[in-house]
Amino acid sequence: MIHIGRRLPPLPAPTRTQPDWVQADPRFIERASERAQAREGGGWCVLDASHRIGSTPRRFQVEGEAYVVYRGESGRVVVAPNACPHMGAELHEGRVEGDQVLCPWHGLALGPEGRGTWQCIPAHDDGALVWARLIRGERPTERPITNPRPEAWIGGVIRQEARCEAEDIVANRLDPWHGTHYHPHSFATLRVTEKSLDRLAVRVAYRALGALVVEVDCTFHAPTRRSIVMTITGGDGESSVVETHATPMGPGRAAVIEATLATSDRRGFGLAQKAAPLLRPFIERRAARLWVEDVAYAERRYAMRQKARRHLQLAAE
Ligand code: FES
Ligand SMILES: [Fe+2]
Repeated sequence: MIHIGRRLPPLPAPTRTQPDWVQADPRFIERASERAQAREGGGWCVLDASHRIGSTPRRFQVEGEAYVVYRGESGRVVVAPNACPHMGAELHEGRVEGDQVLCPWHGLALGPEGRGTWQCIPAHDDGALVWARLIRGERPTERPITNPRPEAWIGGVIRQEARCEAEDIVANRLDPWHGTHYHPHSFATLRVTEKSLDRLAVRVAYRALGALVVEVDCTFHAPTRRSIVMTITGGDGESSVVETHATPMGPGRAAVIEATLATSDRRGFGLAQKAAPLLRPFIERRAARLWVEDVAYAERRYAMRQKARRHLQLAAE
């Protein structure tokens, strides 16, 4: 293992070292997850990366309902029910003209002005992600509840779907102890340096290339019930963030949308910013690889929770 990048001050030796499986206390993770679930969501959820919402209408499912999403000519993101108010055709199969979508069956033009019961839903493009206020039963906020981001970043966004609930995706991130065991290809060493129900701090050496590793300090916290943010607090890339968002699609279905927004105070960063579109696939490939495993983790957690729920139901009958 060869360390590259900035060296971090050594950590005090742990008073007592317990194996990771002992440190990963399921009751703690459960409590931290409950704490995250109690936070506000403002009714907003993330749909996908800003750069993937364009003039081709797309279909998204949130809490069992289907929506059409596209970017109009003016740059405005439109989110609306996917069923045409005329005879119910699926609008994502239509095409965009100006800021309107033309229904594929009889050509009705629908757009931001709405038509009868067919009305657009508040949407927000924050430059990295597109959000919509689609979650029912929450106190709505004017804008999504977001976390500070670096001023200048290069990044990528991945989106994957999973057979679990949004809370299983957040809970996966509240268990950093699985890092080196479950993702040995990405993490060489990992030590949890601070642990509270609101914040976890970790020193991690991630594999940059082959035997080359970069060591950073980072924190995890959940600003809302559907998101968890990793912030680099020391080492190379300080202030970079990885935002993981979970969007409920329907019973037992959720999407994970993760934005990696990397920054650096190194001289070459300006150049890297110019090459941002070229770097994006690399960043996205790396994040996607981790999420293949983390989706399996979240799905397994969900399956175990379902099983426990069934046992409880049977016991109560
Ligand atoms: S179903 Fe859309 S115009 Fe007829
Ligand atoms: Fe993981």
